[in-house]
Amino acid sequence: MFNKLQQKWNVSSIQLFLILCTFAVTGTTTAYVSRVATTWVGFDETTYWLWKLALRLSILIFGYQIIILIVSFFFGQFRFFWNYEKKILRRLGLISKEPIRLAIFASGKGSNAEKIIQYLEDHPIVKVSLVVCNRPGAGVLDIAAHHGIKTLLIEKNLFENSSEYVQVLKNEGVTHVVLAGFLWKIPKNLVQAYNNKIVNIHPALLPAYGGKGMYGEKVHQAVIKAGEKQSGITIHLVDEHYDNGKTLFQATVDVLPVDNADSLAEKIHALEHEHYPRVISKWLKII
Ligand code: GRF
Repeated sequence: MFNKLQQKWNVSSIQLFLILCTFAVTGTTTAYVSRVATTWVGFDETTYWLWKLALRLSILIFGYQIIILIVSFFFGQFRFFWNYEKKILRRLGLISKEPIRLAIFASGKGSNAEKIIQYLEDHPIVKVSLVVCNRPGAGVLDIAAHHGIKTLLIEKNLFENSSEYVQVLKNEGVTHVVLAGFLWKIPKNLVQAYNNKIVNIHPALLPAYGGKGMYGEKVHQAVIKAGEKQSGITIHLVDEHYDNGKTLFQATVDVLPVDNADSLAEKIHALEHEHYPRVISKWLKII
């Protein structure tokens, strides 16, 4: 259970300990404050029970939120709890959502990238701020230029063996990464810097037809060769392994006897364009 919490909150074990201490101390302090406050305002056995209950509940619900911030400060966890409070306020609609800045990674034509850019254009809190590409001359670079989006051409050795590009993303304020036809494996430092904040689309029904070397045409050729009756798309979170993270969405398409790799690729592309932008928006919790 502790491991799960640690992963969910993305914190070290010491930080987890301090967070749990904050919760424990806040609980007792709030109970104490609510008792003291009842006496302080002059409530006693003769006071109508509903007034007493209302006062106690307001302290337990609202006072708790203030007390937790004060206590967290002493445990050095103010930042964590302030973010936690902001989440609650956002859910209640009391403050607006934090801006989301996307980087789209793509190596090819960029038709998916374009659909995503168009879908999110003019969104009040989401901006595609960077297109990252590893192939000079790739179509996606023209698409980015057409939409006035900054581009970053990356180099394999630096990508795999340094944190230079992670730093660039951070400097650009990128909060989430979308892979749309990006062929290199995402290195560990990037996965860790954007834990659960990287999403990918794969043109088959994972776990089938995934893994190293399974990309583009090769996937469709393998599906046709195996005589599959169905193929489809998988949208999933990205971890350190190829095509392995948690699946967010799958959609299927029939593979007909007349299909070849090209016609199947076309159908899969249509499916990707239809679903990827919407699934990304759902993942970002903006719809
Ligand atoms: C898509 O089929 C995607 O699933 C795969 O690469 C292709 C990219 O196509 N990972 P495009 O560049 O978006 O047109």
